[in-house]
Amino acid sequence: MDKKQKEKILILDFGGQYSQLIARRVRECNIYSVVKPYDYSLDKIKKMNPEGIILSGGPESVEGNNVPVVDKQIFYLGIPVLGICYGMQLMADLMPGGKVRKAHQGEYGKARLTIQSEDIPLFSGIEKEIQVWMSHGDHIKEVPADFAVAGRTDITEAAVIYNREQKLYGVQFHPEVKHTQQGQKILSNFLFEVCKIKPEWTMEDFVEQQLSEIRDQVGNEKIICGLSGGVDSSVASALVHKAVGDQLTCIFVDHGLLRKGEASQVRKAFGQQFNIPLVYVDARDRFLDKLQGITAPEKKRKIIGNEFIRVFEEEAGKLEKTKFLVQGTIYSDVIESGENDADTIKSHHNVGGLPDDMQFELVEPLRMLFKDEVRQIGEVLGLPEDIVWRQPFPGPGLAIRIIGEVTPEKLALLREADAVVQEEIKKADLYRDIWQSFAVLPDLRSVGVMGDERTYGYPVILRVVTSDDAMTADWARLPYEVLESISCRVVNEVSQVNRVVYDITSKPPATIEWE
Ligand code: XMP
Repeated sequence: MDKKQKEKILILDFGGQYSQLIARRVRECNIYSVVKPYDYSLDKIKKMNPEGIILSGGPESVEGNNVPVVDKQIFYLGIPVLGICYGMQLMADLMPGGKVRKAHQGEYGKARLTIQSEDIPLFSGIEKEIQVWMSHGDHIKEVPADFAVAGRTDITEAAVIYNREQKLYGVQFHPEVKHTQQGQKILSNFLFEVCKIKPEWTMEDFVEQQLSEIRDQVGNEKIICGLSGGVDSSVASALVHKAVGDQLTCIFVDHGLLRKGEASQVRKAFGQQFNIPLVYVDARDRFLDKLQGITAPEKKRKIIGNEFIRVFEEEAGKLEKTKFLVQGTIYSDVIESGENDADTIKSHHNVGGLPDDMQFELVEPLRMLFKDEVRQIGEVLGLPEDIVWRQPFPGPGLAIRIIGEVTPEKLALLREADAVVQEEIKKADLYRDIWQSFAVLPDLRSVGVMGDERTYGYPVILRVVTSDDAMTADWARLPYEVLESISCRVVNEVSQVNRVVYDITSKPPATIEWE
């Protein structure tokens, strides 16, 4: 095995919402990490022989029945361990003399942590008092015999525990989330000061590792991919193509709800530049027919989703028998798709996706990655900038940005307005800092005046948001000059539009899209 991959961190996942985030933070330190379920066996751990182990947080209380535990021998392997939240409580509970119980008072959200111990490696270079992010109902009632307490908050006495000799550390707070000041530094201290790993791992290494995993999984079989033109499916298919060449065929369904120039860009990049076998399906009329007279947002989504599947199946059926399907699933899809039991807010994450009962085995090379990491991979693979940096775009496309019925006229109008928005945001050099910027066409008209004439035209709503992961978002504080040039150009260049308004609502309570 590659030397760089041997220097790795094993993250044992106890079902906490931040487990993958820990993996990402470790990768940001240029260190290879793997996430395994908490019951990954001791034998396998010994075989892997990681340079360090991180025990994640989790929703359970150590006091409950059938709670997830680890074999306590992992604390005696000579491998440094960092327990986070539940991970720390578990360590404390399993070590001799330690006891964890329900706290009188839980601690959720921001807290002040005071570091009491001088120069412990985990807190090297960290201020004595920092803000940390807490989320726990249990606490350490008795500190294990060979451990010392290194930090406390107002509510939690043992917020940091450690056994310097055995290199065992536990923190009650979450260093991996942004609300913890210097959290990344604390994690990197664990990696560099405690585990003494060298930062050698890069995105190029990730690509290499994925290539060999894809080759192992796919063998000599055929594989197909539904290409949407978005970053995720583009990067996933480019990666798979690099791994297995023309065993891959991409199917690009043009549903006619794309932005200006998008379809031709994708055909050019994949069909010509990368020479990936590409089936282009012009299904524009088919989708428009189905959408006639439909106004309810969820109904539109369902129709588009179903039609997409039908077209895809038809096209796949024309190809040689295929065993595998590439999916551009990324980590935020995994979280939002309900693996964390969150209520479905909109039915979006199955739209443009394919149903589970399709007879394919999935290849999902980006499942562990966050959006910006996917972009880095796109760059490593040499995909065009326009695709790598493309803002997220919903599967049902412009159909859910036209309020009410979708007609060819409205589509043309919105496409033009949207193109102006993209151009102006790019011209102002804001495109990459912004999560999404687009135009929405509401189902109403208002009075205006142009020249000496009264007009009765459409307003265009400008929606521009900043976000890290689309789960929450804030409206972008665009400079007035940018707002002005968008407004001027839209009303001048797009016929039937006489007004531009700016949406100044965050998510929540609004969503990013209008439907
Ligand atoms: P909302 O509007 O729920 O959107 O704040 C969050 C993110 O999801 C995208 N989105 C969709 N993506 N199919 C998709 O593939 C959909 O039906 C859909 N609806 C919303 C949205 O653009 C934003 O990035």
